[in-house]
Amino acid sequence: MKLNKKVLGLIVLGGLAVSGNSWAGTASALDLANTCAGCHGTDGNSTGPATPTLAGISSEYFKEAMLNYQDPEGRYSTIMSRIAKGYTEEEIDLMAGYFAKQKMNRPDQHFDKKQAKAGAKLHKKYCEKCHEDGGRSSEDDAGMLAGQWMEYLEFTMADFTGGKREMTKKMKKKVQKMEKDKGANAMNELIQYYGSQK
Ligand code: HEC
Ligand code: HEC
Repeated sequence: MKLNKKVLGLIVLGGLAVSGNSWAGTASALDLANTCAGCHGTDGNSTGPATPTLAGISSEYFKEAMLNYQDPEGRYSTIMSRIAKGYTEEEIDLMAGYFAKQKMNRPDQHFDKKQAKAGAKLHKKYCEKCHEDGGRSSEDDAGMLAGQWMEYLEFTMADFTGGKREMTKKMKKKVQKMEKDKGANAMNELIQYYGSQK
């Protein structure tokens, strides 16, 4: 009986130690994320229009983006390369977990209904394979398109097609095929579709 109590005590203490640690982890993840709030908004919900929302993006995509920004040969950016340099991999891990857990608020954006409808069809045909669930899926390494700021998407797609930011080979193939089949306005229709989603 005595022994059982002692064992029980150890288990309780162990439990406290574990929850104590994870509490400290959450607090410092929040501290770190708060340094991004000036541009990316509270909880990673950006007030836009050229700064992307981070709330709800997969931790895998987040980590890849930050490590790529740190690499001088990596992802093109106007400002994030300078910012990403200041963080260790552990800190990036903590922030990745924090932003993945936040709820994305999809803002009301001004979009053209007819073009958004055409964009939905284009998405199914050319993009859905990797940007699942109409671009809402946050379970892969492809980023969040549905409800993202349209101006950010416009800049980003121009960086991709202009060769500043590298597309994966397979995405490049689809984008080029779409532009060949559907013409230059297709990308705009897609962006209207992503911006229309709530
Ligand atoms: C001064 C404004 C500013 C601050 C501060 C800032 N960012 Fe950014 N962030 C941007 C902009 C603008 C972009 C678009 C890429 C670019 O042009 O740099 C971006 C893009 C990103 C992306 C890519 C998102 C995507 O959908 O691909 C990630 C991830 C990110 N920022 C993380 C962070 C984190 C983490 C912090 C805080 C440690 C932070 N940012 C602080 C302005 C900022
Ligand atoms: C074969 C898979 C695949 C297909 C098909 C694909 N993508 Fe992507 N996409 C990706 C991956 C992977 C990334 C992340 C790349 C990176 O981190 O640089 C990405 C990133 C993006 C981004 C950047 C997101 C951000 O937050 O910065 C946009 C925008 C995008 N894709 C649009 C599209 C559109 C529009 C189509 C259809 C015409 C499409 N993609 C088709 C795999 C794909």
